[in-house]
Amino acid sequence: MHSSHSALAGAALLTLGGCAAAGLPNAPLHPKAEAQAAPAALAPFAGDGPVTDFEHWQQRRAPLLRQTFAQGIYGAYPAPLPAHVLGREIIAAHAFGGLGSVEQWEIGLGEDRGAPRFRFHLALVLPSAAKGPVPLVLMQNFCGNAAALRKFKGISAPANGGCETGWFSRLMVTSIFGSRIQEPPFHQALRRGYGIAAFYAGEIVPDAPGPSTFAALEALTPAGTAPDQRTGAILAWAWAYSRAYEALISDSRFDGSRVALWGHSRNGKAALAAAAFDRRLPAVIALQPGTGGASLGRDDVGESIEEITKAYPHWFAPAYRAYAGHHEDLPMDQHQLIGLIAPRPVLIGGARRDVWSDPNGALLALRGADPVYQLSGAPPFQQVDPRQPEMDKPLAYYMRPGLHGVHQSDWDRVLDFLDTQWGAKAR
Ligand code: GCU
Repeated sequence: MHSSHSALAGAALLTLGGCAAAGLPNAPLHPKAEAQAAPAALAPFAGDGPVTDFEHWQQRRAPLLRQTFAQGIYGAYPAPLPAHVLGREIIAAHAFGGLGSVEQWEIGLGEDRGAPRFRFHLALVLPSAAKGPVPLVLMQNFCGNAAALRKFKGISAPANGGCETGWFSRLMVTSIFGSRIQEPPFHQALRRGYGIAAFYAGEIVPDAPGPSTFAALEALTPAGTAPDQRTGAILAWAWAYSRAYEALISDSRFDGSRVALWGHSRNGKAALAAAAFDRRLPAVIALQPGTGGASLGRDDVGESIEEITKAYPHWFAPAYRAYAGHHEDLPMDQHQLIGLIAPRPVLIGGARRDVWSDPNGALLALRGADPVYQLSGAPPFQQVDPRQPEMDKPLAYYMRPGLHGVHQSDWDRVLDFLDTQWGAKAR
């Protein structure tokens, strides 16, 4: 496109984007007083009696809930496939003004006739000044690693559609979804002592409902699984977080006890499911994860089961679709998924004009998960101002102004949360 045309189109788009933003309603700052998550997290459930201690929660209730979430929403959890680092490449030994270095790893999963069954790439940005094992933000990337590290040559490029890296496309994407939608603040993270490891899980299961996606999902579904519980892409990407974590902790430069899964929107759904299904994963940051993530699903606020299963049939078990129009029949809800992460830290970020992702539903889910956290010894979650997360609690929440997307202010909160949780040991 001719550059003056591009600039014009960009200006038009900014104006249109601004109008659209102005026209979208704000979510109320507080959920309705009577609204609450059900069933109560510690109440009897599917033949299991009331939960009175955390041991009971972990030994009996948690496996039952994982099975219930797999059967009704996410599909079967894939069988473990060992992760092997197939190659490590130094992309830049000195980058970000000397603050860090960039590496790219190729990871292979499992083996079939001498070749890995799946492959994906991890891009790693590491602080140069690290004095001990480095804490990490492990993120899944909607627009892939090449968009996140566009100034570096040789970064593998797979990404979702609509993620071209040309300046015009970046202008469009960042004007609508925020300055940090593609690129995390590497300088800031490095200065504060964090490394960032990023991958695009669409390399394992593509993010489009076509034949190659369903073939990958079938291949990941454990043998003997009922067809309506075929693994969904959200749980496959969740499983991919665990595989990336295993590859990373095989390297002694990283601190396996300080790895925070980070995901925005669909990737936030995957990050929550990952920690719920894998007790080793230390912390979760989920921004605007919405339906199938942190927001309650047994109400009719935000994106419905009908809408999400129609637009993204590959994300969930086919069984989930049966609840379209019957959300109140779901036997469980997302507060129980968050309860599965207890006692590990979880930060949920919402946006006031992102009513589609139902920020208040996420607050209700955190409140609903709170009894489980308290049982694990955590102080109560009693946040009064939805705009100010209580960083020193393991459950934290905020709602910022604006639309669906990732802004610098989101990252400021993410890094403050991790500093507080990990005693600023990262500095
Ligand atoms: C769509 C989808 C959401 C999802 C979002 C995203 O809006 O309906 O469920 O969270 O995409 O991933 O950005």
